[in-house]
Order: sequence, then structure tokens, then C-alpha cells
Amino acid sequence: MSVSFPPGFLWGSATAAYQIEGAVREGGRTPSIWDTFSHTPGKTENGDTGDTATDHFHRRADDVRLMADLGLGAYRFSVSWPRVQPTGRGPAVQPGLDFYRGLVDDLLDHGIKPVLTLYHWDLPQELESAGGWPERETAHRFADYARIVADALGDRVDMWTTLNEPWCSAFLGYGSGVHAPGRTDPVAALRAAHHLNLAHGLAAQALRGTLPSHAQLSISLNPSVVRAGSQSPADLDAKRRIDALANRVFADPLLSGAYPQDLFADTAQLTDWSFVHGDDLAVIRHPLDSLGLNYYSPAVVSAATDSHPERSDGHGASEHSPWPGADSVSFHQPPGDRTEMGWSIDPTGLYDLLMHYTREAPGLPLMITENGAAYDDKPAADGSVHDPDRIRYLQGHLAAVHRAMDDGADVRGYFLWSLMDNFEWAYGYGKRFGAVYVDYETQTRTPKSSARWYAELARTGVLPDMPAS
Ligand code: FCB
Repeated sequence: MSVSFPPGFLWGSATAAYQIEGAVREGGRTPSIWDTFSHTPGKTENGDTGDTATDHFHRRADDVRLMADLGLGAYRFSVSWPRVQPTGRGPAVQPGLDFYRGLVDDLLDHGIKPVLTLYHWDLPQELESAGGWPERETAHRFADYARIVADALGDRVDMWTTLNEPWCSAFLGYGSGVHAPGRTDPVAALRAAHHLNLAHGLAAQALRGTLPSHAQLSISLNPSVVRAGSQSPADLDAKRRIDALANRVFADPLLSGAYPQDLFADTAQLTDWSFVHGDDLAVIRHPLDSLGLNYYSPAVVSAATDSHPERSDGHGASEHSPWPGADSVSFHQPPGDRTEMGWSIDPTGLYDLLMHYTREAPGLPLMITENGAAYDDKPAADGSVHDPDRIRYLQGHLAAVHRAMDDGADVRGYFLWSLMDNFEWAYGYGKRFGAVYVDYETQTRTPKSSARWYAELARTGVLPDMPAS
């Protein structure tokens, strides 16, 4: 049976600056940690970098027209910090801000709502060289940068997101090292987590002080839907540890102004958390207008039975753990279908996630700011690209969203990751998440069949039955 989403539900797509813009040396932009990391041999598949990416910086107007052709109502993009405030300090540069002014104006001209993310992982390299997210000063730099962007775009952007997936910034960037800046220091990862939380709070204050009162503030988290391998006390404890490190380390200070006590106990051998200062938690707990949730796949964990626990939690291989204080936990792939990332497909995880935050944050609207799948898409002889697996993935997950809404979740919108194929971080260009196919040789864009399917959904709000396989 087909189901209908309510009128006003936002149908969008999402991207991030470093994954699509290219033009890394134009208009005064300085390197970010992702420029440095991707240019370091061995850090990304094939040595791929975002130097050119999908050349969106030069093709902005065409890309907005493409979104308009698909009838999408909203677009979630990120601003590149080193493009608007080179080196992360001092005044803004106008060419950088002009690019985003132009993008937002194009979107508004086509009736597409801009949803702006301030930070999707591209810290100015100079700030990393000064210590990066493990240092408190970086949080203050971020608030300054937030004010600059709000001054420039506050008159035309209503929806503001501070951070995208701080878990990845902290624990993949400073713990396992599979993301920029590629450090592998568990204490630095925990310090980074706190300073990202603080950065969010300080930026939220700066935005409230600068933006018109109707502006909406949010943050996008990627909570792990953690399942225990069994109901044994040891496996349930493994689940508790990962839940603390993946989820509660961000959600608890944001929503209730406190860090989980069990997280302090689990990591006591590493740090006493004295980097959390007196007023920090009050700053972090700044009222939000919505909570952004990114979901791809659940995690199954158990107590490790050997001394080399499996760490393949789907974010890239490293001998270093992204889970400080949880060496005794191993990760398993649930049985069943997987995407090209090797991530298991489980729409129930999205339902569970929405219901969890409905209980945790009563009254706070939710927004799915990322969901989607990578597949090995290839153009047919006539140039068309058929991706029935992606349509099935989206259909299943949107049915789960609808079910959660029926059960009381206040979900206001859905952003498909991604508008187009792009630079998938450490995986480079090999993993295609787009609804639009990109030929990287010619930069030709071809909407896949999933883009047409999604366009119809955005037009009607009616989720059709699962297509026959
Ligand atoms: C998320 C990131 C996004 C993209 C998807 C596949 O973790 O926010 O940039 O890489 O995963």
C-alpha cells in the first residue's frame, strides 16, 4: 500500500563542500585538513583528492537548475571554512562569501530552501597546525567563523546547522585516523569531542545573536543504532560502551547539559576530562529548533573473545580504534544485504533511531539530514543509469520514516545523500552515493532512475509500493 507524507514535509538532497566544490586554490581559499590528508600518500583510495571533485564551484548554476528540474524543495550544503575565512582567523574574503551568496540566490530563485551547514569536516589546516579540535581555542575560532557566515547570509538562509557528524570529526579524525587530520590518539579524540560540542554551543550563541529571530538552529548527528550480539551481560556492556562513545557523548550535553557518568568511568584510564570547564555544559545545551539525524546502517557489537577484536565498523580500516576505552568490544556485520560500502541494509534501524530521539527529546522536531546508499552504478549503452537497488533502499527507509511518524515521531524533512556522486572521503571517487551520476572525465551529470523516482515522490508526497525486483 502506498503512503502519503504530510504537506510541507521537506524533500531535499545533501552535499558537502569538499566533496563537490573543487577549485581548492581559487578566491583566496587556503588548504583544509582534507586537502592535506588527501594529498598524503596512502590516505585515500587511488590517492584521490577533492582538487576538482565535481567542479561544483564552477557549475553551481547548472547544478541548481538540475535540482529544480527534479523538483526538490530543499538543498543541504556546507560552507567551506577556508574558502570564506582563509587560515581560520581574521576577516572573511569576499570571493568565498560571494560564491555562497550566489548559490543561495540561485536556490531561492528556483524556490529551493537552502539548509546551510557550517562545518562538514574541512577545518582550515592552519588551525589544525595550531592544535586542531583537541584544543579549546578551535571552538572559539569556529564561533567567529559562524558569525561571519551569519552576517553574510543571515538575510537569506533560514535553516542553520552548526556541525555535521562531530563523531566522525573527533573519533575518525583523531582516533582511528582514517579521516583528516589522520591522528591516532585516543585522548585527542575525546578532547576533540568536547571541543566540538563546545564549538556547537558557542556558534549557536553567535548565530542567535546575529540571525533574525525566525532563523532555525540545528546540528546533524550520526548516532549509531547499536545492537548487542546477545543478551549476555558482557554483550550488553559492550553495547552500553559504544552507545556512550557514539551517541551519548554528543546527545547528552546537547539535550540535557551533562556528560554520561559511565563514559567518564570507561575512559578514566585515559583522561580525567579536566578539559571540560565550569560553564561549558551550559553553553553546549543551547536550545535547538530541530535535531538532524544521519542514518545509513546499524552496528552489532559484542564483548571481544580474542585479543584482536574486529574493528570493522564500516568507516575504513585502521589498526587504531575509533573507540577510546572500548578495546574489549568487537563489531559484527549483521547478515543480509549490503550496499557497496559493505554496510548492512536495515530500515528498522532508522525507525528505532527516530523513536529513540522522540523519547529522548520530546517536542524537538527531527530532520533526516542524510540517508542513502552507494552502489556500483554504470551507464547503459544509451547513457542512462538504472539503479533499482538504490530505489529499493530509499523506499524501505522512507517507509520506516513514515511508520515512525505514524507512531508519533515529529519528522519534518528528509535529505537524500547525495544529490550527485562525489568524493567519498577516504574511499575517493570509487563509491557512488548520488541520485545523479557524474562522469568525472567530462563532468557530465545524468540523473539516475532513483533521481526520477525521488522527484516523483517530492512532487506528490506519495511513497509508492516497493518496485518489483
Ligand atoms: C556521512 C557523511 C557524508 C557522506 C556519507 C556517505 O558520514 O556525512 O559526507 O560521506 O556519510
